[in-house]
Amino acid sequence: MSDLSKLDKIIDRWNADPEFVVEMFQDVQDQLGHIPRDALEKVSDRTGAPRGSLFHIATFYQAFSLQPRGENEIQVCMGTTCYALGAQRVLEALERELGIAPGETTPDGKFSLRKVRCLGCCAIGPVVAVNDEVVGTIRPSDVADFLTGLS
Ligand code: FES
Repeated sequence: MSDLSKLDKIIDRWNADPEFVVEMFQDVQDQLGHIPRDALEKVSDRTGAPRGSLFHIATFYQAFSLQPRGENEIQVCMGTTCYALGAQRVLEALERELGIAPGETTPDGKFSLRKVRCLGCCAIGPVVAVNDEVVGTIRPSDVADFLTGLS
C-alpha cells in the first residue's frame, strides 16, 4: 500500500476531523516512522487545519519526527539533573562526532539525535538512551568510543 493511500485511511479513521490531528499524526508516525511533508500537507488539505499549526504540532511533540529516524536513535536527556551533571557537553560532543544537530539524522541513516526530558534514571545521570537502552554516567570523552560501539 502506498504511503498516500495509508494517509487517506488514517485521515478517514478520524473522519478528517481537525480535532484529531494529533491522533492522526500518531498513526502516521507509527506507520511511516516519521511525518513526511506530504502527510502534513494532506492532513491540512483534508481537515482544513492550517499548515502552520500542524507544523507546530509536529515539531512540539517529542514523539513526532519530521525526518526518518536513523537505525540508532540517540536520545540525550536534558532533564534538570542530567543538565546539572553536564548533559549539554555530552550533547555537544555527540553533535560534533555525528555532524548533526538534535532532530536530525546522519546522511547514511545510521544515527539520529534527539533531546528528551527526564528518562527517569536521574541517579545515573547524565543519561543517554540508544534505541531505548539507557547508558548512564556518560562523559563527553566517552562519546567517540560509545559511537564506535554502535556502528
Ligand atoms: S534528568 Fe535525566 S534521567 Fe532524570
